[in-house]
Amino acid sequence: MSCKEQKKISTLFEKEVHEGLTAFPKYLSSKFFYDEIGDALFQEIMALPEYYLTRAEYEIFKIHKSDIVKSFNVNGEGFDLIELGAGDGKKTKILLKELVDQKIDFKYIPVDISQNAVFGLEQNLKEEMPRVNVEGQIGEYSEVLDRLKEMSDRKKVIMFLGSNIGNLLHPKAIHFLKKLFESMHLDDLLFVGFDQKKHPQKVLDAYNDQSGVTAAFNKNVLTRINKELDANFDLNKFMHWETYDPETGTAKSYLISVERQTVDINGLALQVHFEAWESIHTEISQKYDDDTVEWLTKESGLQMITSFSDANNQFKDYVIAKNKL
Ligand code: AVJ
Repeated sequence: MSCKEQKKISTLFEKEVHEGLTAFPKYLSSKFFYDEIGDALFQEIMALPEYYLTRAEYEIFKIHKSDIVKSFNVNGEGFDLIELGAGDGKKTKILLKELVDQKIDFKYIPVDISQNAVFGLEQNLKEEMPRVNVEGQIGEYSEVLDRLKEMSDRKKVIMFLGSNIGNLLHPKAIHFLKKLFESMHLDDLLFVGFDQKKHPQKVLDAYNDQSGVTAAFNKNVLTRINKELDANFDLNKFMHWETYDPETGTAKSYLISVERQTVDINGLALQVHFEAWESIHTEISQKYDDDTVEWLTKESGLQMITSFSDANNQFKDYVIAKNKL
């Protein structure tokens, strides 16, 4: 590869778009959905009637907040509460309020790749919950994980909510949980949201809503390539497609080329050819059951402590420890 080409394929986005669109079959990572437009579309998704996940986890926090907070504070000495992928913090505020009410000594550390999200949340908490000590961090999970162990000597409770872990197939989820394990001290805890297996139609509907917001969210990765890499994807020539395999519990999103076409990505000096009905795989949204979560936990060296679920068992949040308590 010449110097010039090497310079061209430089950012992570450029590198991965090049890799994914020259691979067979084609793919793009769902982490690229989330620019300012993607963040706003995901906010819309969370309010959709079909997207039950956010409401179910909200219900879990409402019903079980007292016991959840007690399970965090078993030794009564307070802790740092670290939230990976904090977003707008709407659900988390229920727990923050409960922590304040139970007079627990804690610091809240929201972590997000979106600077926008972290600053907004800090500002909002200053006004709404001035007694909460907030110290946001901007960065990708993996790089923040590396800093985590050195961040403080205090006990840590690390939250990863909303079934964000579902974007990872099991081997990658285990790798991620192992990295968490390594970054934890003996009495640190994890609190992780896992969306549960359910009627396959309900899962499909959640990722294929009537109003087309999820389709727009999925296509936002093409909009980003158009804008940031000077490309000419015609969004009308791609359709959103969702599948769900009830055996593996894996929901998958695709963008499908509805005709034979060639797309120019000038920023990568690349032409991408699509056959009619050729797919780009864009997202995994894994669904779980207790046995699977138990297995992932064990494989990662961690210990399952307890779980909390909504009234209909749509969704569960699991308390996981490094050591047996
Ligand atoms: C943010 C990864 C939990 O997979 O359910 C929502 C993202 N994608 N609709 C999910 C998403 C399409 C969401 N997570």
